[in-house]
Amino acid sequence: MAEPLLEVDGLVAGYGAFGVLFGVSLSVAAGEVVAVLGSNGAGKTTLNRVLSGLIRPSAGRVRFGGVDITGSAPAAIVAAGLIHVPEGRRIFANLSVRENLLLGAFVRTTKKGGRAERGRTLAEVLEIFPRLGERLGQSVGSMSGGEQQMVAIGRGLMGRPRLLILDEPSLGCRRCWWSRTCCSRWALPAGRM
Ligand SMILES: Nc1ncnc2c1ncn2[C@@H]1O[C@H](COP(=O)(O)OP(=O)(O)OP(=O)(O)O)[C@@H](O)[C@H]1O
Ligand SMILES: [Mg+2]
Repeated sequence: MAEPLLEVDGLVAGYGAFGVLFGVSLSVAAGEVVAVLGSNGAGKTTLNRVLSGLIRPSAGRVRFGGVDITGSAPAAIVAAGLIHVPEGRRIFANLSVRENLLLGAFVRTTKKGGRAERGRTLAEVLEIFPRLGERLGQSVGSMSGGEQQMVAIGRGLMGRPRLLILDEPSLGCRRCWWSRTCCSRWALPAGRM
């Protein structure tokens, strides 16, 4: 059987002396959609922070694409293709939609052909979220909550993730048609996005 894209084994992590994760293990295959469910404070966001390198685990291992990324820097993890759309969006309110989206491709533009690829990716993202195409020059802080969530997910997609982690993608939104649209694209065979 092929090795999973993401393999998490026995993760232990928390904040100082406060433990949150006590031996979390899971795996995600390429093209698979996995939901992590739990009550408020259960540790879902903490798990996402460990996977994206924002918190170092005190024990356990994370393998991505067959490589051990435990304790790697967040920028290196993004460059490897594991991209985390954080809870609460964390977009830049005073920048435009276009500027926020382009920032998502930042680590890829330093590569040869990166700028041309960025243009193609932007076109794909705007196909998924046509509303953003109508508002490219609008400052993100003046957009509705749902529109801001589209920007946050779109920014994540701009990095051409091999694996996209969405933390509370439908938070504050009555209907989450965009995340469903996004997931159906994203779940297509590897290499489509
Ligand atoms: N920076 C921090 N410092 C100290 N404790 C924290 C910090 N961030 C989160 N916690 C605590 O860690 C625990 C897990 O929080 P986490 O945000 O991972 O939960 P969650 O499952 O994402 O919850 P929710 O569904 O409410 O988003 C909570 O008890 C929270 O108070
Ligand atoms: Mg959370």
